[in-house]
Amino acid sequence: MNLVDTTQINVAETIIDFSIGQPDPDLLPLDIIQQASKHHFENNISPALLAYGAEPGSRQFRTLLADFLKHHYQTPVQADHILVTNGNSQGLDFMCTLFCQSGDTIFVEDPTYNLAIDIFTDHQLNVVGIPIDKEGLIIEALEEKLKRHRPKFIYTIPTFHNPSGVTLSGKRREKLVELSQKNKFLIVADEVYHLLSFNTTPPVPLGSFIRSETVISLGTFSKILAPGLRLGWIQAGSSIIKQLISTGLLKSGGGSNPFTSAIIGSVLELGLLDKYLDHIRKVYQQRSTTLHASLKEHLPDLNLPCESEGGYFYWLHFPDQINVQKLLKIAQQLEVNFKPGIDFSCSRKSENYARLCYAFYNEEKLITGVKRLAKAFTIFRKES
Ligand SMILES: Cc1ncc(COP(=O)(O)O)c(C=O)c1O
Repeated sequence: MNLVDTTQINVAETIIDFSIGQPDPDLLPLDIIQQASKHHFENNISPALLAYGAEPGSRQFRTLLADFLKHHYQTPVQADHILVTNGNSQGLDFMCTLFCQSGDTIFVEDPTYNLAIDIFTDHQLNVVGIPIDKEGLIIEALEEKLKRHRPKFIYTIPTFHNPSGVTLSGKRREKLVELSQKNKFLIVADEVYHLLSFNTTPPVPLGSFIRSETVISLGTFSKILAPGLRLGWIQAGSSIIKQLISTGLLKSGGGSNPFTSAIIGSVLELGLLDKYLDHIRKVYQQRSTTLHASLKEHLPDLNLPCESEGGYFYWLHFPDQINVQKLLKIAQQLEVNFKPGIDFSCSRKSENYARLCYAFYNEEKLITGVKRLAKAFTIFRKES
């Protein structure tokens, strides 16, 4: 009997849905989980695995994770500065619970990750958007907004941003940290795509600035291994980790996911994630190149952004006169879907953009999807 009720996604096989921002099920590493589980149970038979876990997560796992991050970030990372979560969504929810009350203001990039807006809405926060450009968050715009608001935190996706794909420059990272110290707000950095760089090395993660005590970095295995693991981490200074440990949620339930983290500890110990990361980086880079080339060929009138340098997404900008919602309706009739830009904006801006994800489909399907999109565009032009 198949007891697995598959995935959040409910899309007919015939549709190419560029709006899905998840790993391709064909790339999910069942073999790695099998190998790591076997290794774990052959070497560590202890019922402690099935007990409530220590609030920050097991020391053994946090040490393995800290070593992994140190190697990939090329900056020091300590186990004591890590707390295990069940993913960045939970990490974000923690931030709201711990640092905000209903009605408080927070800043986000505009556009930002659409489902983060939902989490902030759950907590009844006042969400204020700060515009971005090719180098990420515009610092001058942030300074302007700081004259009128006192945000509890700013939520940023500094590297390979969702949805725009841009990366916050090194200089702006430093300036942002400086401003957070001067104006006493926290920076919640969602570094979900940091390890998915193709050719370039992004600036050091904001996790490297936790000494400032204003920076909190959220990381997750969802996009570098598998979202069904529900495993992630918060990297922060000692006083913030202490506050997290004392939340009712962790006091009552113990640390998040002790069982899963034990298995993923073996993945890290055996070096399986390093190899897998190399593999998916290559696959995603190839898919991104194919998507870009195909858009160039089939939608030559569009002013395309450069090819993506990492992460999952491509941010298409349509000319002002194009009504993207109308185009989307035509596209859906042709069995291709995308996420309209307006969904990512807390101020209902970005209406002339569309987010395409290149991670979920293989190259053949990406090309089919672009051809359908081009057909939709031709029909739209004729009808307008
Ligand atoms: C920017 C961003 N943050 C968080 C998440 C969700 O992360 P998790 O699965 O770790 O909850 C996603 C998933 O698409 C994302 O793009």
